[in-house]
Amino acid sequence: MHIYFKTERLLVRQYVVSDIDNLFRVMSDVRVHTYTKDKDHPWDRQRTEEYIRFMVSKDFRTLDCFHGAVIEKETGLLIGLCGLNPYEPREPEIEFKLGVSHWGKGYASELGSRIISEAFVNTNVRGIYGMARPDNTASRRVLEKIGMKYIGDRAFRDHKDSFYYIANSK
Ligand SMILES: CC(C)(COP(=O)(O)OP(=O)(O)OC[C@H]1O[C@@H](n2cnc3c(N)ncnc32)[C@H](O)[C@@H]1OP(=O)(O)O)[C@@H](O)C(=O)NCCC(=O)NCCS
Repeated sequence: MHIYFKTERLLVRQYVVSDIDNLFRVMSDVRVHTYTKDKDHPWDRQRTEEYIRFMVSKDFRTLDCFHGAVIEKETGLLIGLCGLNPYEPREPEIEFKLGVSHWGKGYASELGSRIISEAFVNTNVRGIYGMARPDNTASRRVLEKIGMKYIGDRAFRDHKDSFYYIANSK
């Protein structure tokens, strides 16, 4: 299985089908979705399985577009997901969702910084967007901490989001 990158405390790798139960444990918690489009629909097992089977079938290898399982190195636990979603050509959107018991440890910032540096050095991505609901303070703080600049609130999908951006100066 492909490892996208390792940080000091985390490892991000491709999914395997046996991740379904562990990711379901994270994504079935309604608190993970408070500020996302799944607010009223925490993932059920079927949704989790469809997501993982889709990601396995895509077999993403490079960091211009990928989703991976976030593993805590110390415990070996799958604690969430992260990735870059297609948005504008060569300008993807960063995403992270972590299990509640792992919030507040700096993990999302650790992941976000590495995703940006890896994508900027090893792919032809020319910039990365970050979107968060205006009242998603934790997510907005993470986007700021990883060097993104607030560029205003815009309509996104079916709602308004605060947009952040970082350009690749490579
Ligand atoms: C958003 C999320 C990824 C952050 O993960 P995390 O690992 O806890 O983030 P970090 O610890 O790296 O940083 C969080 C920052 O927000 C701050 N923060 C958290 N909650 C806050 C609040 N309610 N008000 C103000 N600041 C807050 C923290 O203090 C920290 O900033 P600091 O380092 O300056 O103190 C996590 O909360 C999550 O998975 N949420 C649910 C999914 C989601 O909303 N994802 C984002 C959109 S896809």
